[in-house]
Amino acid sequence: MRKGVGIVGGSGYVGGELLRILLHHNNCEVRNVSSRRLRGKPLSKAHPHLKGEYEHLEFTESSPDSFLNCDFVFIVSPQEEKSFSYVKRFHEAGIRAVDTTACYRTTPEHYERYYGKQHEDKERRLVYGLPEFNRDEIKSSKLVSNPGCIAASCILSAKPLDDKDLIEGGVFDAKVSVSCAGAEPYERTHFPYAAENVYQYESEKMPHRQTPEIKNNLRTNFTFVPHLVPIVRGILVTSYLKLKEGVDPQVVERELRSRYLKESFVRFVDVPSTTRVKNSNFFDIGNFYYEMDSNTLVFSSAVDNLVKGSAGVAVQNMNLMLDLDEREALADLPTFP
Ligand SMILES: NC(=O)c1ccc[n+]([C@@H]2O[C@H](COP(=O)([O-])OP(=O)(O)OC[C@H]3O[C@@H](n4cnc5c(N)ncnc54)[C@H](OP(=O)(O)O)[C@@H]3O)[C@@H](O)[C@H]2O)c1
Repeated sequence: MRKGVGIVGGSGYVGGELLRILLHHNNCEVRNVSSRRLRGKPLSKAHPHLKGEYEHLEFTESSPDSFLNCDFVFIVSPQEEKSFSYVKRFHEAGIRAVDTTACYRTTPEHYERYYGKQHEDKERRLVYGLPEFNRDEIKSSKLVSNPGCIAASCILSAKPLDDKDLIEGGVFDAKVSVSCAGAEPYERTHFPYAAENVYQYESEKMPHRQTPEIKNNLRTNFTFVPHLVPIVRGILVTSYLKLKEGVDPQVVERELRSRYLKESFVRFVDVPSTTRVKNSNFFDIGNFYYEMDSNTLVFSSAVDNLVKGSAGVAVQNMNLMLDLDEREALADLPTFP
């Protein structure tokens, strides 16, 4: 029997991508999608591109109890919003869920410092939903915290090398699309501000708020600086990784390739670019260059923030948690141009 799926906050960008991806899922059917603003309205009100699908559903109220008719729930309310009441209720009711907010990605202390809000569930820890590294823990979890899209790109780029002790620090320079900020417009994502403009993203005299997530997953020291660029989808991270003394750069590149050999969603390409991963669950790596003077390996990686950066990896996590084929509903190739 198909599993009944719910989406908390389904009128936003990640909600729309979940709905699009789940249309192709053979083992799940969407049962409940909430929006406070659009309660009682058809889903096509927020997602006109999905017109003709999900005609039997309308947006429901956003409350933990209204999702108790579901077997699995995606919590995709804004990252500043607290998902604690949903996570607590789903835990009590035995409902499996993926939380895409920042509430459980690191420690309560990090959350309070970087998001400026009180953490209301300090004892609970959720498994970090990065399948390439935490597959077994995800499989045996009922509640999983989806990674931040920019942090995950940096971690996927450097963690195999960090785990093997081949690097001793580095810089992640991220170019981030406007849809990373969600559907709710604000001054800096408004067209006249964001168009034809590039600026450092959300850094009010402190490191970007996904920094602790990277620190939690890497041992090496690094500097992480994201910039907002005027594109709609995608993230490009250029990594500048300082190699340990005596480490052969070709060995490092080989290590990265062999670590991901069996991963369905990691591809090695000549030139990673945001348009070549668009609408897909792929994480592309490539363009390796060794700078001898500074003993630094330079390369880049690209993802679609709304797929492998959020909705796609959330479905990948759900597939693992429900003991399904990890690739179910995620096999589509990118669209280009
Ligand atoms: N955008 C990305 O690239 C991206 C990447 C990785 C992770 N994420 C994470 O995914 C989540 C959703 O992002 P998004 O880009 O889809 O945001 P979004 O476009 O702003 O959508 C947010 C959704 O949450 C609902 N909502 C707002 N306040 C709520 C509340 N208090 N309780 C319940 N629902 C509420 C909104 O509808 P109503 O206001 O009508 O309720 C809307 O449906 C965030 O936590 C974000 O950190 C996003």
